[in-house]
Amino acid sequence: MRCSFAFAFLVAVAPTFAAPTSMEKRRPALDVCDVTKAVVPPAPTPLPAPSGSLQYVAIGRGTQNYTCGATPNSPNAAPKAIGAIATLYNATCAAVAAPQVLNDTPAIALKTPASVGVAVEKESTDGPVSGHHYFNAAGSPVFETEYGWVQAKAFANSTAPPTADKGKNGLGSVPWLKLVSTAGTWKEVYRVDTAGGVAPKTCADIAGTFEVEYAAVYWFYA
Ligand SMILES: *[C@@H]1O[C@H](CO)[C@@H](O)[C@H](O)[C@H]1NC(C)=O
Ligand SMILES: *[C@@H]1O[C@H](CO)[C@@H](O)[C@H](O)[C@H]1NC(C)=O
Ligand SMILES: *[C@@H]1O[C@H](CO)[C@@H](O)[C@H](O)[C@H]1NC(C)=O
Repeated sequence: MRCSFAFAFLVAVAPTFAAPTSMEKRRPALDVCDVTKAVVPPAPTPLPAPSGSLQYVAIGRGTQNYTCGATPNSPNAAPKAIGAIATLYNATCAAVAAPQVLNDTPAIALKTPASVGVAVEKESTDGPVSGHHYFNAAGSPVFETEYGWVQAKAFANSTAPPTADKGKNGLGSVPWLKLVSTAGTWKEVYRVDTAGGVAPKTCADIAGTFEVEYAAVYWFYA
């Protein structure tokens, strides 16, 4: 069974929502979708518009990693961002068929154990796990998916909206971003609808590397 990740999370949150057989009938045909109709949600500080055409949309669920290694337990130093790691779930058709649900999904995903995604993957041969986001040895963000890949660098950012999820630590949501390609089959990436991922302001009482859980929606253009 192929179903959107947004839907998978909703099922995980409310497992008695409907029996699988009745879900199959009520669900819109998410596998057939016209991506030309999908529009990346506008950031509070507008990000430059995409120049390419939309290829793929994914929900990312993982961690933003930080270190206080160089300034352990210092109330006068800020944690340094050292990358991120996330599992990507295909949400292209959700971006077309149910954009509002997609926009809200990272906040829901953050409240769901990260292991739920793994469980979904094991249940299904072509399930919604669709790619991986990580930082390579050179410190560049990389997105590898079953539809294409890109290595990128930050190009523009916006703070998350005031209504954004506060994250598990209550510190807010990481900025929305536009990234541009430095290698790969895709040219532009947007990180939007962020939930969580923000580090404490200082390294007071923090000595080494640490992770802050986050989720976001990524839009890829070529
Ligand atoms: C997965 O992504 C591809 C490429 O964008 C798209 O054609 C396909 O319909 C997507 N599937 C779902 C379930 O969103
Ligand atoms: C972030 O943390 C994860 C989980 O421990 C780890 O697998 C990954 O290598 C870390 N990434 C970076 C860039 O530190
Ligand atoms: C956001 O963009 C500004 C201006 O280019 C830059 O100074 C800042 O470091 C960026 N912030 C993040 C979190 O990427």
